Amino acid sequence: MSSPPPDPLPPTTSTAPWPALVAIATLLLVLAAAFAWVGGWIGRDRLTAPRLVDAIEGGKPYPGFRRAHSKGVCVAGYFEPSAQAARLSRARVFHQPRTAVQGRLSIGGADPHALDAQARVRSLALLLKTDDGQEWRMAMNSFPFFAVATPAGFHAQLLASRPDPATGKPDPARMAAFLAEYPEAKRFQAWAKSAAWSSSWANTAYNGVNAFRFIDAAGRERFVRWSMQPQAPFEPLGDAEREHADADYLHEDLQARLQQGPLRWNLVVTEAAAGDPVDDPSQAWPEDRPQHVAGVLVLERSQPQATGPCRDVNYDPTVVPEGIALSDDPILAARAAAYAVSFHRRERETARGDAGEATR
Ligand code: HEM
Repeated sequence: MSSPPPDPLPPTTSTAPWPALVAIATLLLVLAAAFAWVGGWIGRDRLTAPRLVDAIEGGKPYPGFRRAHSKGVCVAGYFEPSAQAARLSRARVFHQPRTAVQGRLSIGGADPHALDAQARVRSLALLLKTDDGQEWRMAMNSFPFFAVATPAGFHAQLLASRPDPATGKPDPARMAAFLAEYPEAKRFQAWAKSAAWSSSWANTAYNGVNAFRFIDAAGRERFVRWSMQPQAPFEPLGDAEREHADADYLHEDLQARLQQGPLRWNLVVTEAAAGDPVDDPSQAWPEDRPQHVAGVLVLERSQPQATGPCRDVNYDPTVVPEGIALSDDPILAARAAAYAVSFHRRERETARGDAGEATR
């Protein structure tokens, strides 16, 4: 008798490792490409956050410093909401009596050694942390509206403003081409030429310029913009004073004022009307829109940025508490991405120890 035939072999398809390995390799390649894309290493024409920050650096980074608004000082104090603020938004910051604030006053520009009195743009960044751990971060400027409507416009502005090595000034032909493509920037130029300069960080108004949404207790939403209006009276800083002021003029003025007592700003919230642009920070809203004083910011003390708590903070304006929400403004989204790139560059440099005076 012959022996029974052996059991048939199981199908062979699942035993070969190659298809699985090819699938894994393909997935890894796709992931690597996605990271490279997001990181800006491929897709040369695409405007990415690293390219925006490269354009701000202009080939001359200052290790350890913020890539924009590099010169500044840490400040701290508190915020107290007004009674009407609670009706505008259910955010905790408008419902608890007082919220601790830590922030930063700075001047615009990438040079940490710039002359304070020559800076056309001054800035205030804030981090408010409520008792439930929620955070509201803001970064505001002294201009009333942004120069351009889109991140591409901002990138073009940075390239057009770069000094020509031959003259030390922006190339007029490039600037004219930029203004032809982004005519909204002419409004900003007019503001920069004509607006009065204030004499202090303390008597400057700081504007959020991007639109956000406030959500009230009933779930009703309204588009808003906010600004910090100084309680200190406006005093002008004339051309001659600007010319001869100390390099750290604003810092010295701040110290002198804080020695006399705290500095105060009203948080003024402006409501949009139907049809107002809520995704374009280059367009101011008409003057007659309803405004509400939502509270008072009180700054009591300052510390050098090299050693103070603001050094390692990213004042990303898209960090908002429940009760405040973002708009679809593309500048807002670009800011979040660019601030993260700048933050990671400066933190890496600081950790490596090549940040120079930024860490002293
Ligand atoms: C596409 C548009 C913009 C880009 C790419 C951009 C980029 C940056 C970057 C890279 C930083 C440094 C962040 C860090 O290292 O922590 C910065 C800081 C800052 N930006 Fe912008 N920015 C934009 C628009 C604006 C606007 C519209 C405002 C205000 C109205 C603003 C206000 C500020 C302020 C106040 C700071 C300093 C924050 C601090 O003290 O840490 N920026 N920006």
